[in-house]
Amino acid sequence: MQVVSSFETAFGGTPEGVWHAPGRVNLIGEHTDYNDGLVLPFAVPWGVTAAVSRRSDDRVRVVSVQAGGPVEEIEGWAAYPIGVALTMRAAGLPVGGADIAVDGDVPRGAGLSSSAALEISVALALNDLYDLGQSPLDLARLGQRAENEVVGMPCGIMDQAASALSKEGHALLLDCRTLGSRAIPFDLPSHGLELVIIDTGVHHELADGQYAKRRRDCENAAERLGVESLRDVTDLADALSRLSGDERKRTQHVVTENHRVEAVIGLLRAGAVAEVGALLNASHLSLRDQFEVSCPELDVAVESAIKGGARGARMTGGGFGGSAIALVATDRADTLRRHVAEAYEARGWKAPVFRTAIPSAGARRLV
Ligand code: GLA
Repeated sequence: MQVVSSFETAFGGTPEGVWHAPGRVNLIGEHTDYNDGLVLPFAVPWGVTAAVSRRSDDRVRVVSVQAGGPVEEIEGWAAYPIGVALTMRAAGLPVGGADIAVDGDVPRGAGLSSSAALEISVALALNDLYDLGQSPLDLARLGQRAENEVVGMPCGIMDQAASALSKEGHALLLDCRTLGSRAIPFDLPSHGLELVIIDTGVHHELADGQYAKRRRDCENAAERLGVESLRDVTDLADALSRLSGDERKRTQHVVTENHRVEAVIGLLRAGAVAEVGALLNASHLSLRDQFEVSCPELDVAVESAIKGGARGARMTGGGFGGSAIALVATDRADTLRRHVAEAYEARGWKAPVFRTAIPSAGARRLV
């Protein structure tokens, strides 16, 4: 294993263990997690593998097969793994020093949560080595806290929870208010379907500032409506009549998106998997027009996927680049890929990368 040789070269000796945590795609439930809402992501086959040993002092050193090192400073990529150790200590957990080597194969910039994979692989390793007794959900919360407080990205809990809790062949229904979760069987091949990930290869710079702004819009709307969060809006028409501008649009998205997650769950339970497509389309329009987090590359991916025969398609993740997903009959998947590739070529854009989304296992110890 490359991560083990990287560990040995950087630190000497063999690691005490090796752990893996995956990235994710989100089937539906976008920008709902920080509004106490519902999300339905699943783990992808790509992730981060971490080889880790304890140290007798308090130092935390990290090396990456992709990014080099070792480093001990909280900067760049190292803020994620070191941030997890520091956050665990701040939470009163007895975490000593550690030597950590990581190897990631989550496609960079694809919006598939390489950062959550990095956080959760290290969180699980430290949990096992220092016998912290934290549940997968506890580890997800610690990972989110590290990202919020050390990295400075005000994300919700979806990505870390998907990485920590997913089950192979299932999507993860997570109620971000109660943090209750359920594994929902999600077997596309048996329905003659495939979920294609269309990696646009773009990441628009405004992403981070705009994410924080969307969060604030939602919080301001909730405050104006006198509710704890937008999850509490039960009468949408009444809420919209009391709001205007951005707050009105964000509320329209979040409230309807929670209903779309519930509708998808209903369809999956009924075995009407292809029908989920219409809800993916509706989710995309709402993210584009009401939440305003799409971009031309995502819109063209979605529109050309639908022209190419998709049952439905939407952007996935935070937006402003990254990936779209398209649900398509397996025997039409090649046509879809051709349509999307041609649409990109016609605009003189870099060719998108296609991958198949296979619901994979969550974080685990490998060795
Ligand atoms: C990013 C964040 C998540 C979530 C999504 C949007 O991936 O990390 O917490 O808010 O955006 O659904």
